[in-house]
Amino acid sequence: MLSPWWDRRGWAIPAQANLSGRKDRAGLGGLDEGRMEFCPMPAAQLPRMEMSRAERLEDETLIRLIMQYHDAHVRDLASAAHTAEIVAARHGPESGFPPALPDELARLRETLQAHQLREEAVLFPVILEGRGETLRYPIKALGSEHDDMQDGLERLVRLTGDYAAPAGACATWRALYDLLRKFDGEFREHVRLEERVLFPRFQ
Ligand SMILES: [Fe+2]
Ligand SMILES: [Fe+2]
Repeated sequence: MLSPWWDRRGWAIPAQANLSGRKDRAGLGGLDEGRMEFCPMPAAQLPRMEMSRAERLEDETLIRLIMQYHDAHVRDLASAAHTAEIVAARHGPESGFPPALPDELARLRETLQAHQLREEAVLFPVILEGRGETLRYPIKALGSEHDDMQDGLERLVRLTGDYAAPAGACATWRALYDLLRKFDGEFREHVRLEERVLFPRFQ
């Protein structure tokens, strides 16, 4: 046993891990499902922070900023996965809508939720308790999960033709691709904050 949260088999998430708001965030949260059937309404893109400014943030402030991305990812992927199922059911394969997209989004959502749980239940609390120097192995594992999820994003880019809906696409289809483009940008930005600013502090 290397630590209470990491052993030779990998992650050991405490059974009592209780993430505030996670229960709601795991589903559609407060989104209006009826309205979403017509058109998902993405919030504005989170502003990108200059690297030099992010590097000057205290651990706690940086983690709060990263959590804003986590919240946006959960909301946006739940909305996108739901909307993709609706568009796929409404339009046949001849429409050009990628039939594999709903499954790809469901897979990415599941992977992302497991990744966020490890960060929110283990990594961030340990950092905030001042024991970040014990996190070398978990951080390496999280970095490789980022690579896997970025491969998932590349599959989304290929499936959707870089999030470009065809000329005849309906409003819901267009809104879905706009939402996915937002998620893509925010996910890559969140990885940049973790891998280039937060993680190097403890490696
Ligand atoms: Fe994260
Ligand atoms: Fe991460």
